[in-house]
Amino acid sequence: MRRRQFVLGGLSAGLGAGALPALARTPAKTAPRAAIPFGAAMRVDLLRDDPDYRRAVLEHCQVLVGEGGLKWFDLRPAADRFVFDHPDRLLAFADAHGMQMRGHTLAWYAGMPKWTEAITTKQAAERALYEHIDTVVGRYKGRIPSWDVVNEAISDNPAIDKPMRSSLWQDLLGTQHIDMAFRRTAAVDPKVQLVLNDFGFENPTGQCRAKRTAFLRLVKELKDRGTPLHAIGLQGHLPGEKEIDREGLSRFVSELHGMELAILVTELDVIDDKLPPDPAIRDEIVASRAQAFLQAIGDVVRPEAVLTWGISDKFTWVPIWFRRKDGLPNRPLPLDANYQPKPLMRVIKAFTGATT
Ligand code: G3I
Repeated sequence: MRRRQFVLGGLSAGLGAGALPALARTPAKTAPRAAIPFGAAMRVDLLRDDPDYRRAVLEHCQVLVGEGGLKWFDLRPAADRFVFDHPDRLLAFADAHGMQMRGHTLAWYAGMPKWTEAITTKQAAERALYEHIDTVVGRYKGRIPSWDVVNEAISDNPAIDKPMRSSLWQDLLGTQHIDMAFRRTAAVDPKVQLVLNDFGFENPTGQCRAKRTAFLRLVKELKDRGTPLHAIGLQGHLPGEKEIDREGLSRFVSELHGMELAILVTELDVIDDKLPPDPAIRDEIVASRAQAFLQAIGDVVRPEAVLTWGISDKFTWVPIWFRRKDGLPNRPLPLDANYQPKPLMRVIKAFTGATT
């Protein structure tokens, strides 16, 4: 089956061309290539309420994704009610400005509203999953070209005999829920790019190695069963204090690419709670981690898009879980809290080949 491409402008150019030379060795002037679309996760109210935020998004982004909005607990306050206000507004913004919007996400362990606890049988779970996909994917058919169909399916510490993360879907339907979600999404919108999105692959730790092994095994099983799966979303929430396992990550990406899967970087940021306090030093470490991560991927394949999980340090999820002990604000994103570009933005622009 032909791999679907998340097409934006000249994005399809060069895809599947195999290994790309390392970033550092490919300055744009000697090796021209189409820019990789860059984008970020959005809080849609800020596009309306914060002119600086809106300006930054317009200046830097070609792809948007809701940081929330399409999650079950945002969309579904009650079993019989869908609230599409946020994603509708984000899509309208994207359309009005010639950007594309990604969908995040249809089946996830987290972000489930309380009422879903009443779903306790296999039949009810199947019904709920299908109803959700039919309604949500159906509403945006032909307008959201790429969906994180299943998010974070592999457990944090995957054991050989128990690799999958517990979730409503996994617990009631088993790993088959992944096949079901992908097949149903493909049936509702046959043109959509179907993405399996996950994190925690990039460090030289036993935990990351186990996660890579479990993930590759899952992907291979899905492919063997003929499940429609087009791309892998590497989230890239990078722990700033840890090295990037360049070789391990490149090998992992190469295995995925060998299974005819496209790669997207979907949620890049650098978690800086354990980094030194000095902002300049911290920003350089943040940039260097992202550089190593992107380069390890870029050495193997040209990602179809790079998205950060937020655009400015002013609005980031990181302090929810990784607040710094010294009380200093986190600095995980490409723009600082005053919307000024940081070294991370320089790295991203160099990698994506963007000129702005
Ligand atoms: O909107 C309320 C706000 O009114 C209130 O003042 C505030 C008080 O805490 O909470 C706000 O909502 C929070 C929201 O983030 C703010 O954007 C929710 O409580 C909180 O649960 C929500 O967390 C989000 C989390 O997913 C759970 O959905 C994060 O923003 C979001 O960045 C995070 O995103 C995930 C990806 O979906 C999957 N990969 C990991 C990534 C980071 O955890």
